[in-house]
Amino acid sequence: VSAERLRVSLYGDGQVNRNVAAILRRRSGYDVLGPYDRGGRDRALRDGTDVVVIATTSFLTEIADDVRAALTSGSNVITTAEEAAFPWAVDASLAGEFDELARREGVTGLGCGLNPGLAFDALVLTAAGAAWEVERIRVQRSVDLSRFSSTILRRLGVGYEPAEFAAGVREGTIHGHIGFPQSMRIVAGAVGVELERIDRQIEPIYARHAHATADMSIPPGATAGFTQRYTGIVGGRGWYEAVFTGHVDPVANGTPPRDQIDVLGTTPLHLVVEPGFDPQTGSSAMIANSIRRLVAARPGWLTVAELPPAHPG
Ligand SMILES: NC(=O)c1ccc[n+]([C@@H]2O[C@H](COP(=O)([O-])OP(=O)(O)OC[C@H]3O[C@@H](n4cnc5c(N)ncnc54)[C@H](OP(=O)(O)O)[C@@H]3O)[C@@H](O)[C@H]2O)c1
Repeated sequence: VSAERLRVSLYGDGQVNRNVAAILRRRSGYDVLGPYDRGGRDRALRDGTDVVVIATTSFLTEIADDVRAALTSGSNVITTAEEAAFPWAVDASLAGEFDELARREGVTGLGCGLNPGLAFDALVLTAAGAAWEVERIRVQRSVDLSRFSSTILRRLGVGYEPAEFAAGVREGTIHGHIGFPQSMRIVAGAVGVELERIDRQIEPIYARHAHATADMSIPPGATAGFTQRYTGIVGGRGWYEAVFTGHVDPVANGTPPRDQIDVLGTTPLHLVVEPGFDPQTGSSAMIANSIRRLVAARPGWLTVAELPPAHPG
């Protein structure tokens, strides 16, 4: 696979795929088509390229037709949609359909990025390789949100007055970061633990002064970030605790970008990445660096726990 020239088409003309195109075009061994916007959907998905990258939205139902089109055209599929990293957590029948379709076509599907894809799952499992057993896991991640588009910031929960934030959480239009149940289920499944449930909480962080991103102004008193806590419960107790703080000015907020993984047990492990993984460059790299491991993998819809580590190549 490493010597093989690969045709890769990119669907979704956003920051991830623009970066993936730039990464792959710096390398020999790839013919890159796109990124294509909605108008280029058929060319992106139905060309039968070796790999189709779908980087459009986070939700399984919204990518389902695109995934079907690419798989039935004989392409391997990699998507940044967080829910697709472990689609069984969202819709077991759709996940089963993707898996069956991929097997029938002899191709592979994967949901991947930095988060899910590395910070809360693959890297946790890699660190756990040096542990005698896993009694408990704690992962804390602090992320700079300032370079996300306003569409993504609004969905995350940034730029809202207090009452709007509370209503958005209640009504399900504010999601915070998506993908914790997927990461937790990937890790639990790999180490043979059954999660009873996953509890979740999201708390707003209000701006003390005005902030501005490329396409959003945040007045004082509106949300400039948030903290999410997800807890995977086993035996009635927290087994996997994930804490994610996102902010448009994380240094001023006192939460500079940082990733910390603790794998607790007889041989406790403490892994820190400082500054933390960059959400933009890191995610695009994870996608570009997953293409060859995807092509080499067995057919079916897989998770990052079933693949070797991603790396440039
Ligand atoms: N797993 C991970 O670690 C990870 C990492 C990075 C990103 N992501 C996720 O991947 C997605 C893309 O990220 P991004 O930063 O590239 O976002 P972005 O900059 O907002 O770009 C998304 C692009 O996709 C298009 N799009 C949206 N919905 C679409 C649909 N249903 N069909 C076709 N095109 C559609 C948008 O075009 P329009 O303007 O026409 O809507 C936009 O050009 C996001 O949902 C993000 O949360 C996941």
